[in-house]
Amino acid sequence: MDQISEIKRRRTFAIVSHPDAGKTTLTEKLLLFGGAIHEAGAVKSNKIKKTTVSDFMEIEKQRGISVATSVMGFEYKGYKVNILDTPGHQDFAEDTYRTLSAVDSVIIVVDSAKGVETQTEKLSNVCRMRNAPSIFFLNKMDREGLDPYSLLDEIEQKLKISLCPMTWPIGMGKTFKGVYNLYNESLNLFSGQEKQLIEDSIKIESIFSKELEKYIGEEAANKLREDIEVVRGVYPKLIREEYLEGLVAPVFFGSALNNFGVNELLNSFLEQAPSPLPSQTNERIVNPEEQKFSGFVFKIHANLHPLHRARIAFVKVCSGVFERNKPYMHVRQGKWFKFSNPTSFMAAKQSIIEEAFPGDIIGLHDTGNFKIGDSLTEGEILNFKGIPSFSPELFRYVENSDPFKSKQLAKGLEQLTDEGVAQLFTHKTSNRKIIGTVGALQFDVIQFRLLNEYSASCRYDSIQLHKACWFVSDNRAQLEDFKKRKTQYLAEDKYGRDVFLADSAFSLKMAQDNFPDIQFYFKSEF
Ligand code: G4P
Repeated sequence: MDQISEIKRRRTFAIVSHPDAGKTTLTEKLLLFGGAIHEAGAVKSNKIKKTTVSDFMEIEKQRGISVATSVMGFEYKGYKVNILDTPGHQDFAEDTYRTLSAVDSVIIVVDSAKGVETQTEKLSNVCRMRNAPSIFFLNKMDREGLDPYSLLDEIEQKLKISLCPMTWPIGMGKTFKGVYNLYNESLNLFSGQEKQLIEDSIKIESIFSKELEKYIGEEAANKLREDIEVVRGVYPKLIREEYLEGLVAPVFFGSALNNFGVNELLNSFLEQAPSPLPSQTNERIVNPEEQKFSGFVFKIHANLHPLHRARIAFVKVCSGVFERNKPYMHVRQGKWFKFSNPTSFMAAKQSIIEEAFPGDIIGLHDTGNFKIGDSLTEGEILNFKGIPSFSPELFRYVENSDPFKSKQLAKGLEQLTDEGVAQLFTHKTSNRKIIGTVGALQFDVIQFRLLNEYSASCRYDSIQLHKACWFVSDNRAQLEDFKKRKTQYLAEDKYGRDVFLADSAFSLKMAQDNFPDIQFYFKSEF
């Protein structure tokens, strides 16, 4: 198959949700359809419910699983589907944001009893920032939940997106009878059996035909007719271009646990969702159809084995064809590398591949050359956009507690922060190292991994900080004045860029007011 056809048949996406909405269950059902797994329970949830050290031990156990499930690729009806896994725990939200830089669209799962939750809102904001086409799966219809109108209203208002229902639920909870497909005017009846694999949809002539009563009873039939009339009046028909621009999101109702509505979701997703899209770089827009290979690292996974330092860099292929053993340029280092064992992740198994196409994710073995955001090309200087670090919210001083292991500590901190586990700053006046994270669990992760992988031990000292933000200005005088007055609150990031450590929301606001020519940034890409 040629490059264009390979691109057209690829669907690379992520499933995101607030913890417990049903992301793992839905992923598993999609994999069952794709034949990538053969029984339920094969995909382990990678969520950690509480924030304690013992839970962190759980993460360690699960790291092996999460490499395998980082990318789940399978073939289905002629499509090559790549599902990118995102961490369930909110302390790893930044990992999720970066993974979203490598997908072309998302499926957002919402628990229909709980509606929009905090993580749904945060993740959907990131999707909106990227204009990522989104499809909603309103899950757990077998439970009593919000009525569908309120649910859709809440999503539209809180997530600032227009919705377009593709199916409509008939009842809910104990009275849930199934869904009506608004587009092909068919009924899917709910049997409540978890094993139900293929849903038989029943084509009905029209919503007004008498056969509707036969299937769902008179009361439900009348209610459905009323609902459909309202829904058709309120929600416009789906225009694919609007979906592709991230303006409108199709909505499906179902129950992942009961495998209900999943087939419909998958089929419609494959038809509607975009094949690999062009990627933005600082230099130009890169089109997947281009002849020459380019790609970027969006995730680095340390090897489980504490004795070797090997890591896997996950690279999204953005253009051209990646080939095994062909030399590619590591743009940041200006060096050329060949990869003899690039892996693909098909059916959650890793295997060595000869070539990969745009939309594919490949795993490259790395001994410390890659950082998140690095690009590989056939010689062109390209720096892909959209892989920012976010301004951290939690901070601690990190101190060496074993004077004989200071080199190991420095190396460990350098590499773990390359992986995106946390951000490292150096306080300007004291030269002390500060670790900044978006979640408290990361501090345990770092301490544990420093000891296990680098034999370095550290302790933390508290530091009272509200936010760290990057700043720049063309007004040199103002910049110098700011730096002089705020000496105590200045740090450098790993790349030597200036960072302001604001100890309170008030001092940040004062800095912004008093130094109007200075731009403060809350993500590292500006
Ligand atoms: P997550 O990855 O988004 O965190 O959610 P996950 O799939 O793990 O689902 C969270 C809980 O919700 C699980 O129950 C799961 O069985 C349940 N669930 C998922 N989809 C549905 C659905 O359509 N209907 C109903 N009623 N429940 C659903 P759990 O008790 O926390 O875990 P488990 O012991 O069942 O694994």
